[in-house]
Amino acid sequence: MSETARITPKRLMLGQVSICDGCCCGKIEKGHPAVPVQWLKQEWKVRGLLKRVHLTICGCLGPCDVPNVVMITSSEGTQWLARLSTQRHYTMLADWAEQSKDADELLPLPKELSEFSLMPYREQSPLSFEGQLVFEGHR
Ligand code: FES
Repeated sequence: MSETARITPKRLMLGQVSICDGCCCGKIEKGHPAVPVQWLKQEWKVRGLLKRVHLTICGCLGPCDVPNVVMITSSEGTQWLARLSTQRHYTMLADWAEQSKDADELLPLPKELSEFSLMPYREQSPLSFEGQLVFEGHR
Protein backbone atom coordinates (compact mmCIF):
# COMPACT_ATOMS: atom_id res chain seq x y z
CA MET A 1 0.00 0.00 0.00
CA SER A 2 1.35 3.44 -0.90
CA GLU A 3 1.97 6.21 1.63
CA THR A 4 -0.82 8.76 2.08
CA ALA A 5 -0.10 12.17 3.60
CA ARG A 6 -2.04 12.64 6.80
CA ILE A 7 -2.83 15.63 8.93
CA THR A 8 -2.13 14.96 12.60
CA PRO A 9 -3.13 17.12 15.57
CA LYS A 10 -0.70 17.96 18.39
CA ARG A 11 -2.42 15.58 20.76
CA LEU A 12 -3.62 12.25 19.44
CA MET A 13 -6.76 10.82 20.99
CA LEU A 14 -7.19 7.19 21.96
CA GLY A 15 -10.72 7.36 20.66
CA GLN A 16 -13.88 9.38 20.50
CA VAL A 17 -17.29 8.69 22.00
CA SER A 18 -20.09 10.40 20.11
CA ILE A 19 -23.36 10.35 21.98
CA CYS A 20 -26.42 11.24 19.99
CA ASP A 21 -28.73 13.90 21.38
CA GLY A 22 -30.45 14.57 18.09
CA CYS A 23 -34.02 14.64 16.91
CA CYS A 24 -34.95 11.29 18.50
CA CYS A 25 -32.24 10.02 20.86
CA GLY A 26 -32.93 11.19 24.38
CA LYS A 27 -36.24 12.81 23.48
CA ILE A 28 -38.59 11.75 26.24
CA GLU A 29 -41.47 13.52 24.50
CA LYS A 30 -41.08 10.90 21.74
CA GLY A 31 -41.06 8.10 24.28
CA HIS A 32 -37.29 7.55 24.35
CA PRO A 33 -35.15 7.36 27.49
CA ALA A 34 -33.33 10.57 28.37
CA VAL A 35 -29.63 10.97 27.56
CA PRO A 36 -27.82 12.34 30.65
CA VAL A 37 -25.97 15.00 28.67
CA GLN A 38 -24.98 17.27 31.56
CA TRP A 39 -23.89 14.30 33.68
CA LEU A 40 -21.76 12.97 30.81
CA LYS A 41 -20.07 16.34 30.24
CA GLN A 42 -19.36 16.66 33.96
CA GLU A 43 -18.01 13.11 34.27
CA TRP A 44 -15.72 13.51 31.28
CA LYS A 45 -14.40 16.75 32.74
CA VAL A 46 -13.95 15.47 36.31
CA ARG A 47 -12.32 12.25 35.15
CA GLY A 48 -9.93 14.12 32.85
CA LEU A 49 -11.08 12.27 29.76
CA LEU A 50 -11.38 15.15 27.32
CA LYS A 51 -8.96 14.92 24.40
CA ARG A 52 -8.01 11.35 25.44
CA VAL A 53 -11.26 9.45 24.97
CA HIS A 54 -12.99 12.47 23.62
CA LEU A 55 -16.69 13.03 24.27
CA THR A 56 -18.86 14.56 21.60
CA ILE A 57 -22.54 15.21 22.20
CA CYS A 58 -23.90 15.36 18.69
CA GLY A 59 -26.92 15.69 16.50
CA CYS A 60 -28.55 12.82 14.63
CA LEU A 61 -26.14 10.00 13.76
CA GLY A 62 -28.64 8.35 11.41
CA PRO A 63 -30.28 5.24 12.85
CA CYS A 64 -33.09 7.09 14.67
CA ASP A 65 -35.32 4.02 14.83
CA VAL A 66 -33.03 2.43 17.45
CA PRO A 67 -32.36 5.24 19.90
CA ASN A 68 -30.32 5.96 21.99
CA VAL A 69 -27.27 5.74 19.71
CA VAL A 70 -23.57 5.94 20.60
CA MET A 71 -20.68 5.79 18.11
CA ILE A 72 -17.18 4.96 19.36
CA THR A 73 -14.37 5.55 16.88
CA SER A 74 -10.64 4.95 16.98
CA SER A 75 -7.80 4.01 14.65
CA GLU A 76 -9.10 0.44 14.91
CA GLY A 77 -12.55 1.18 13.58
CA THR A 78 -16.01 2.08 14.75
CA GLN A 79 -18.28 0.44 17.28
CA TRP A 80 -21.91 1.49 17.40
CA LEU A 81 -24.27 1.02 20.31
CA ALA A 82 -28.01 1.60 20.44
CA ARG A 83 -30.95 1.48 22.80
CA LEU A 84 -29.00 2.63 25.86
CA SER A 85 -31.71 3.26 28.38
CA THR A 86 -30.38 3.54 31.93
CA GLN A 87 -27.91 5.64 33.86
CA ARG A 88 -25.99 2.42 34.47
CA HIS A 89 -25.27 2.12 30.71
CA TYR A 90 -23.77 5.61 30.62
CA THR A 91 -21.87 4.99 33.86
CA MET A 92 -20.33 1.87 32.29
CA LEU A 93 -19.26 3.97 29.30
CA ALA A 94 -17.64 6.59 31.56
CA ASP A 95 -15.92 3.88 33.65
CA TRP A 96 -14.64 2.19 30.49
CA ALA A 97 -13.36 5.52 29.12
CA GLU A 98 -11.54 6.27 32.38
CA GLN A 99 -10.01 2.79 32.55
CA SER A 100 -8.91 3.16 28.92
CA LYS A 101 -7.33 6.54 29.67
CA ASP A 102 -5.47 5.03 32.63
CA ALA A 103 -4.31 2.09 30.50
CA ASP A 104 -3.35 4.48 27.65
CA GLU A 105 -5.23 2.26 25.20
CA LEU A 106 -8.84 1.56 24.39
CA LEU A 107 -9.84 -1.47 26.42
CA PRO A 108 -12.60 -3.89 25.37
CA LEU A 109 -16.04 -2.51 26.10
CA PRO A 110 -17.87 -4.01 29.07
CA LYS A 111 -19.51 -7.30 28.10
CA GLU A 112 -22.83 -6.03 29.41
CA LEU A 113 -22.88 -3.44 26.61
CA SER A 114 -22.42 -6.06 23.86
CA GLU A 115 -26.18 -6.65 23.69
CA PHE A 116 -26.48 -3.04 22.49
CA SER A 117 -24.08 -3.49 19.57
CA LEU A 118 -25.46 -1.93 16.39
CA MET A 119 -24.50 -2.37 12.71
CA PRO A 120 -25.98 0.56 10.78
CA TYR A 121 -24.30 -0.05 7.41
CA ARG A 122 -24.97 -2.27 4.41
CA GLU A 123 -22.07 -4.44 3.25
CA GLN A 124 -20.07 -2.71 0.50
CA SER A 125 -16.57 -2.20 -0.86
CA PRO A 126 -14.04 -0.47 1.43
CA LEU A 127 -14.00 3.34 1.18
CA SER A 128 -10.99 4.59 -0.75
CA PHE A 129 -9.23 7.55 -2.32
CA GLU A 130 -9.08 6.18 -5.87
CA GLY A 131 -7.50 2.89 -4.94
CA GLN A 132 -6.13 3.75 -1.48
CA LEU A 133 -8.10 2.54 1.50
CA VAL A 134 -9.32 5.42 3.65
CA PHE A 135 -9.71 3.36 6.78
CA GLU A 136 -6.41 1.55 6.71
CA GLY A 137 -6.22 -0.56 9.83
CA HIS A 138 -9.98 -0.69 10.33
CA ARG A 139 -11.48 -4.10 10.88
S1 FES B 1 -31.47 11.25 16.63
FE1 FES B 1 -30.01 9.77 17.31
S2 FES B 1 -29.69 8.58 15.52
FE2 FES B 1 -31.08 10.11 14.86
